[in-house]
Amino acid sequence: MKLILLGPPGAGKGTQAKLLEAEFGVPQISTGDLLRQEVAAGSEIGKAAGAVMAAGGLVPDELLLRLLARRLGGAALRLGFILDGFPRNLSQARALDSWLDARDAQIDAVLELKVDDAALVDRIAGRFACAACGAGYHETLKPPRAAGHCDRCAGTRFTRREDDRAEVVAARLAAYAAQTAPLLPYYRAQARLFSVDGMAPPDQVFQDIRMLLDAIRRPRLERADSKARLEV
Ligand code: AP5
Repeated sequence: MKLILLGPPGAGKGTQAKLLEAEFGVPQISTGDLLRQEVAAGSEIGKAAGAVMAAGGLVPDELLLRLLARRLGGAALRLGFILDGFPRNLSQARALDSWLDARDAQIDAVLELKVDDAALVDRIAGRFACAACGAGYHETLKPPRAAGHCDRCAGTRFTRREDDRAEVVAARLAAYAAQTAPLLPYYRAQARLFSVDGMAPPDQVFQDIRMLLDAIRRPRLERADSKARLEV
């Protein structure tokens, strides 16, 4: 299964990618997480990307493609992948298409998570994560079960993303509208785009995505089955 999750900052891409990874065993590839690891490691890519990310802009394509080349190899083609945060503009989408075409592969579905702007701002403003294990929380929507203690590792230190400050969120939303939203007609024209109501609670969004993926894959499995019967 090869999926792309599309949606503005805070739409729930990371949340759904992790649920899909756990359910189907298909790895999440989050370019935001990969970039944050590079920034934390102080690598050449991290040094070039850090300031752009802190300002809410898009990191140059050339750096993204170098970063992804390390993750998209034979194993990714075999196991499939869930792209979370990539592609983010038309040139990245075209680069991904060329890479897939050259390997006779294709994206199964592009899932657009639709969420109102006001909800996006609320979700991002309240988001924080465990400093030890990275488990994600939200002040009101998903607080830890015991206040001040991570559910997963009992850690007591929490962090917030530097780019979750209100002024940076405005720049991230503007970058999405100007550079990423044009991917919607691009993938619609390829008949790969499916929209999901991202305003529903996370578990409901996940059920909706599962049903959608079943509906997309069923005709393919039936086609493969009838082809196999014809060949017997
Ligand atoms: P990235 O890390 O990809 O951030 P983003 O796209 O802005 O998305 P977020 O991680 O903020 O949100 P999300 O949609 O994953 O939502 P989440 O599940 O966390 O990118 C960061 C930066 O890196 C970019 O700004 C750019 O600079 C750079 N970058 C990355 N990729 C790039 C690329 N390809 N090209 C160039 N630059 C790139 O959920 C958010 C909150 O809401 C959480 O608290 C969660 O608990 C809650 N929540 C989730 N779902 C629901 C729900 N259904 N109902 C209620 N609450 C919910």
